[in-house]
Amino acid sequence: MTTDNSGDVRLTGIGKTYDNGFTAVHPMDLTVPQGSFFALLGASGCGKTTTLRMIAGLEEPTSGTVHLGDQDVTHLPPYKRPVNTVFQSYALFPHLDIFENVAFGLRRRGIKSVKKQVEDMLELVQLQEQARKKPHQLSGGQQQRVAVARALINHPKVLLLDEPLGALDLKLRRQMQLELKRIQTEVGITFVHVTHDQEEAMTMADTVAVMNAGRVEQLGSPADLYENPNTTFVANFLGTSNLIEAEVDTKNGDDIILKAGGGKLVLPEARCSAPTTTGGKVLVGVRPEKISLTHADDAGSIPEGRNRITGKVADASFIGVSTQYVIDSPVCDEFAVYVQNIERDGRLVPGADVVLHWSPAHTFGLDAAQSLLAGTVGSAGTEEEAA
Ligand SMILES: Nc1ncnc2c1ncn2[C@@H]1O[C@H](COP(=O)(O)OP(=O)(O)OP(=O)(O)O)[C@@H](O)[C@H]1O
Ligand SMILES: [Mg+2]
Repeated sequence: MTTDNSGDVRLTGIGKTYDNGFTAVHPMDLTVPQGSFFALLGASGCGKTTTLRMIAGLEEPTSGTVHLGDQDVTHLPPYKRPVNTVFQSYALFPHLDIFENVAFGLRRRGIKSVKKQVEDMLELVQLQEQARKKPHQLSGGQQQRVAVARALINHPKVLLLDEPLGALDLKLRRQMQLELKRIQTEVGITFVHVTHDQEEAMTMADTVAVMNAGRVEQLGSPADLYENPNTTFVANFLGTSNLIEAEVDTKNGDDIILKAGGGKLVLPEARCSAPTTTGGKVLVGVRPEKISLTHADDAGSIPEGRNRITGKVADASFIGVSTQYVIDSPVCDEFAVYVQNIERDGRLVPGADVVLHWSPAHTFGLDAAQSLLAGTVGSAGTEEEAA
């Protein structure tokens, strides 16, 4: 059992206000445990790169401290920090071959016998065959791996990655996500990975911090964030959520009974991050894949104890693995429902009357004093705003 914590990243009250008065990062605390794969996820302009650059020492924080393990590195220059960064533009040396690109950090430190270490690194990123090629002779994904090898050969305690897969097409991106995850597991050092792609963050990271407008809005494992979002921003930014405005009616044991559109919905109190006084408003959330669709004619067959809502099919898109329905209902005009392609009910076409139903256990509750649309495409705090 090792108690080495020298690869912990600990940010305390760290904040950044640029010279023009703009606060890119509001003072925040964040701890990344040694050896973990940590993702900073958020829309363009939310402060991800600024945060990463403060860890690297490339940006001076306006407030707070940066610790790596027990060492306060807040005032150390970048080259004195046990940290390396991989950027979106890999910035390989075009005139050097792959071997020499990877060897660069060692040679600069005056190390003569580099062969064994470089070969080990090339093996780690599976580029042994490419050692004598120049960067322009490699694919985007291969160049990206050279950049990782070049950073890792310095044995940093922490590797910072700023959208390292941003220049790759989708298929290569997916492949490289698994590859980077494998490399991280193999070397066991702390990775802090910045991305605006929620699927990328969820596939790769042990822990994800969702950032919004210079603040960490929620932090947790991918499954925890997805199943238990605490804000509408997280509910909408990570996947899709249906949100219904409801009113607290009564409590029944561990459940809250809510009124919505003339009907009742059940919400486990433990899954509600909002205050629940009788008569108060709550946003009720449910993910599209948790919902079953039953034709109104068969409504009698729906088991007791499920939350149910009536509606009409507005749109149905068959995408093979599932059908994605849009349902018009009195409580939500565009209810998204994903039905896995097992047995298709041919009656579920636009215009059909349906009942949507789901287990109360899959319901979450959010504070109603927030925008329903936060974190959706086109809303404040996403790509458009920062453009
Ligand atoms: N030198 C600077 N002076 C003033 N404002 C800046 C400066 N650098 C960045 N900003 C602003 O700070 C905010 C956060 O920038 P940052 O680069 O951290 O965002 P990001 O989350 O990495 O975005 P992206 O996904 O587009 O890379 C942005 O609104 C940006 O315009
Ligand atoms: Mg950035």
